Amino acid sequence: MKNQSETMFESAFAEDTYKGLTQDPKYLLSKYIYDKNGDLLFQRIMNMPEYYLTSCEFDILEKNKKDIAASFKDESGFDLIELGAGDGKKTKVLLKEFVAQKFNFNYLPVDISANVLEGLEESVKKEIPEVNIKVQQGTYFNTLEKLAEYNTRKKVILVLGSNIGNLSHPQAVGFLKNIAQAMSKNDMLFMGFDQKKDPQKILNAYSDKQGITEQFNKNILVRINRELGGNFEPDNFMHWETYNPETGTAKSYLVSKKDQKVEIRNLNLKVSFSTWETIHTEISQKYDDSIVNWLAEEAGLTVEHAFTDQENCYKNYIFKSK
Ligand code: AVI
Repeated sequence: MKNQSETMFESAFAEDTYKGLTQDPKYLLSKYIYDKNGDLLFQRIMNMPEYYLTSCEFDILEKNKKDIAASFKDESGFDLIELGAGDGKKTKVLLKEFVAQKFNFNYLPVDISANVLEGLEESVKKEIPEVNIKVQQGTYFNTLEKLAEYNTRKKVILVLGSNIGNLSHPQAVGFLKNIAQAMSKNDMLFMGFDQKKDPQKILNAYSDKQGITEQFNKNILVRINRELGGNFEPDNFMHWETYNPETGTAKSYLVSKKDQKVEIRNLNLKVSFSTWETIHTEISQKYDDSIVNWLAEEAGLTVEHAFTDQENCYKNYIFKSK
């Protein structure tokens, strides 16, 4: 039997959009930014000089690959499961090191985008043919259930790119708890966390002058237009970024530049915006050791080690289950 929401809405995207645009203040969920165009825009963001996260993490992995490899190594080999794999540019640093050291391992990247996985598989096969890769398409949530099935040897779970930062603290605790539950004693979680830093540097990373982040943020409106029959005029909104150095929370908004009405046909919904009214679209949380230790504690994990750069711009932590 169908539940009520399935009867009323054509998809989770439709339901979440309806909910977010009928709340006060309005919001949309950032996960819906990532359609084919959103994936491409995010690739462009990762290549921008202002978006320091990618190069910081790349350098940490490059500099520490021997130590990281030593901590992953296991006599019976291991399964490397990457959640939210993306283009794998940073992961390839580790894959090359594991191959050079003749490690026995499987690489199991998981991503919500079939598109992204296809590109990743092709490039890994071409650049590092020795790697045994098996891609899996899915959300974090449904793959976490499958994670526990990998229990014949050590699991190393990889979450790079400070992807956890797009979750609120309670959501992050839930996510980490799910991972912790799938981990056995010998398993490891290796996760990237962008750190609190000069607030201006953070603001610049999320409001580039070229307007790529603005296009990325507005892609959610473009997607609503295409998939849900909306008539948003993206130019009638401006991209606005805030960063609160006290909490470490960066927030992205779309701000209405005028009084306007938008219709979303498939939702049977008319939404009014007054001038300067906001739609909150994303959070990008920044961390320090005390927040990470707190999250770990709440989730039943312990921090074993942290790799960082000279300025403590970004950190990759190794966690084990308690
Ligand atoms: C994917 N995620 C970690 C990015 C971030 O930094 O929050 C998404 C992003 N949004 C704007 N720029 C990048």
